[in-house]
Amino acid sequence: MNQPSTQPAMIETSKSDTETFYNDVIKGLKQTPKRLNSMYFYDAAGDKLFQELMDCPEYYPTKCELEIFSQRTADLANTMIGDGDAFDLIELGAGDATKSSYLLKYLQDQGVDFTYLPIDISANVINYLTVKLPLTIPGLKMTGLNGQYFDMLKRAAALSNRRKVVLFLGSNIGNMPVNEATDFCKELRHHLAPGDMALIGFDLKKSPKTILAAYNDKGGITKKFNFNLLHRINRELDANFDVNRFDHYPMYDPETGACKSYLISLQDQLVTLGKETIRFVKDEYIYMEISQKFTIMQTDQMAAHTGFRPLDRFFDNKKWFVDTIWIAE
Ligand code: AVJ
Repeated sequence: MNQPSTQPAMIETSKSDTETFYNDVIKGLKQTPKRLNSMYFYDAAGDKLFQELMDCPEYYPTKCELEIFSQRTADLANTMIGDGDAFDLIELGAGDATKSSYLLKYLQDQGVDFTYLPIDISANVINYLTVKLPLTIPGLKMTGLNGQYFDMLKRAAALSNRRKVVLFLGSNIGNMPVNEATDFCKELRHHLAPGDMALIGFDLKKSPKTILAAYNDKGGITKKFNFNLLHRINRELDANFDVNRFDHYPMYDPETGACKSYLISLQDQLVTLGKETIRFVKDEYIYMEISQKFTIMQTDQMAAHTGFRPLDRFFDNKKWFVDTIWIAE
C-alpha cells in the first residue's frame, strides 16, 4: 500500500517494564559468577555515553563500518535490491542510524520501493529516529519498533508479506559468544523466508592491543558506560550500589576472540535492591559484557550452519571490520 509522504511515522512499543528489569538483575546477581545483561546499558544516559564512545579515538569499529557504508553505498544497495522486488528493510539495534542513513538516502534517491523498520531496545532511540529520519530523508516510509529483537521482528513480519532485508550492524552480534551468535542466526533465519537477506557487521580479530585499547579508552568513557548500569539500577530499582567500591576491568583473549568487561568489588560489601540484599566478597566480579571478535572463516561457517549463503562482503581499508550479506536458503 502506498502511504503519502506526509504520514507521520508510527511507533510500536512492547512493555519491557521495570519488573522484568528487576527480575533479570536479581537473577544475574544471585548467580555464581555474578552477571548483568549488557542489553540494559542502553537507557538515555547509556545511549549518550555510547555516542561519546563512538567518538573516542581508540574505538575503531564504528569508524570502520562508517567507511564501508559511506564508500560502498551503491554496491551494498544493489546487492540488497536484487531483482528489484519491494522490500522491508529491518534494522536490529538501529541506534542513531548514522551508518544505515547512507543506505536509506541512496535507496530513496533511486526511487526504490522499501519501508524502513528500525528496532531498538531503547525507547529514547526509537523516539529520536521517528522524529528525525523523515525530516532528513523526505518521503521515507518507516515504522519504529521499540523492544527486544525477536519480539519486534515478529511484529515487523506481521506488518507485511514483502521480502525482508535485515540489518544487524556495528558488531552488535559480538554481544554474544560464538555459539550464542550461531543460535541467534538460526532464530533469525526462522523468521525469514528463502530469498530474504541479512547484512551483518562483524568486528574481526586483529592486534590484541588495538582491540583492548578500544575497550579501555584513556578518557574512561567505557568505564563510565559500565558504571552507568549500576547507576541505572540504583535509579530504577531502588538500589544502593556505590560505584566507588567497584573497579572496571576490561580484557581481551586473542585465542577465543572474546573481549570482556568486568566490575570488580574492591571490598566485602552488601548491596540492597528493593527487598533483596546481595553480598559481594572482595575481588568478586560482575561479568558485564562480551564483544566477540571473529575470523572471516567463522562468519562463513556461521552462515553455512544457520541456513544462509554468503552473497557478498565489504571491508574497510584496514580489513578490521566486515559487513557480510547473506541470503536465506
Ligand atoms: C554496541 C555492542 C557493538 O561491543 O563494541 C563499546 C558496545 N561496549 N564499548 C561493542 C561497547 C564497550 C559495542 N556494541
